[in-house]
Amino acid sequence: MTSRARQKPEELANLRALLAESSKNCQAKYLAEAGVFVGLSARLIAERMGPDEILCLYDTWCGLPPGACAEDEQHWEGSFRGDWLELTRRNLEEFSHLLQWHQGIFRAETAEPNDAVFRFVHCDLDVEEGTREALAWFTPRIAGGGILVVHDYKQYDRVPTPGVLRAVREWLATSSEGWSVEVMPDPSSQVVLRRT
Ligand SMILES: C[S@@+](CC[C@H](N)C(=O)[O-])C[C@H]1O[C@@H](n2cnc3c(N)ncnc32)[C@H](O)[C@@H]1O
Repeated sequence: MTSRARQKPEELANLRALLAESSKNCQAKYLAEAGVFVGLSARLIAERMGPDEILCLYDTWCGLPPGACAEDEQHWEGSFRGDWLELTRRNLEEFSHLLQWHQGIFRAETAEPNDAVFRFVHCDLDVEEGTREALAWFTPRIAGGGILVVHDYKQYDRVPTPGVLRAVREWLATSSEGWSVEVMPDPSSQVVLRRT
């Protein structure tokens, strides 16, 4: 499996612990990852799922179209270009019975499945617009005891991610009642939202 999209060891450890925590505290059967690339972190999630759970995967699997990034995020525009869907399917083949694939630009208006209730969501889209849309769509659909983790809250591999920070801060300012918020310590760049 290509290691182009890296999570730091500390971030992987956090994901493992948060998956275990949500499994203990929440009965909802859906999990999700928005921003999958070739499936490295999706695999970590799938390995820890029960046989009756469903992992919804959201990505374009071909990078971002022109105009998808804010001015201070332009360095992301050429990232993740390619045709990654088949490789990702192969990388996750042994978990295919748990997976639902949702290809395209993530938009709150059109995201599916509309009636899903989630126990765990990993949001790793790197850019502002997708992160804002994902927060708007997922957070009302997370059950009590469930967890949403946003990656790259502060930076990605020492490159600042101001758009993700803006999207999360906007959500915190308007929609965070009923949630507890934990910014994970360095070197992690995750923020953890727990539905209380
Ligand atoms: C950092 S990669 C994900 C890495 C993956 N979570 C891992 O750790 O292995 C970010 C992915 O988000 C996707 N992405 C970014 N914005 C998106 C959007 N608005 N809609 C759909 N996919 C998007 C990109 O195509 C890219 O594959």
